[in-house]
Amino acid sequence: MRKPIIAGNWKLNNTSKEAIELVTLLKRNLSDVSKVDIVVCPVFTVLMDVNDVLANTNIGLGAQNLYWEDNGAFTGEISAPMIKDTGAQYVIIGHSERRQFFGETNETVNKKIKAALKHGLIPIVCVGEVLAERESGKTFDVIKEQCQGCFQGFSEEEMKGMVVAYEPVWAIGTGKTATPQQAQEVHKFIRDLLAKMYTREIADVIRIQYGGSVKADNIKDLMSQADIDGALVGGASLKSDSFVKIVKFYE
Ligand code: 13P
Repeated sequence: MRKPIIAGNWKLNNTSKEAIELVTLLKRNLSDVSKVDIVVCPVFTVLMDVNDVLANTNIGLGAQNLYWEDNGAFTGEISAPMIKDTGAQYVIIGHSERRQFFGETNETVNKKIKAALKHGLIPIVCVGEVLAERESGKTFDVIKEQCQGCFQGFSEEEMKGMVVAYEPVWAIGTGKTATPQQAQEVHKFIRDLLAKMYTREIADVIRIQYGGSVKADNIKDLMSQADIDGALVGGASLKSDSFVKIVKFYE
């Protein structure tokens, strides 16, 4: 059985004070959860502050991006050892907003995954099609190309530690969610593809999150699908009430 993993991607939100307020509430309201791995992913500048609040709790910490070199003349970048140094255990890689606005490609995603693994960070790797691709029937081609580009060249052990997030771009921040069936279809496709690229045993342990307008009122139906192992939540992770309800979807 794969343990569900629900992560909040805070995106470009929350100053230190706001972040501390939010995680203090989450810590209080989620302390009884053991069935779900919980992660919050704030902006870089508050990682250490948030880590202080989350020390010895059941809530994990993740960054939203990284650069693949450890150090050097790369002004404005942050590396895996630096993220590790904040206390974080996870890092989101290849989010569609990074692909769309910051030139991220499958090749850079692959390099970033390597850097994360080298330093013991768990990558949460995002894939997903845009609306035009879905409407022209190219969803599976796009997902295949992304997965083949991002997940090549890893050992079996490395693959087992990976978290994949399927985020249809047309469902992000739009209030339009993929139906549980639409999501399940792509999740199964990703798992079968990973089984072909690696082995069935590996594909069966990799957790695949769904992301795209996940809310308290749709999480249960999404989680009822066989290949949906959690969620990567944007907007609804910014308020304690809604994120707590999402994490406790099983109640
Ligand atoms: P929303 O939940 O706001 O649609 O964002 C999804 C997302 O991009 C999470 O990474």
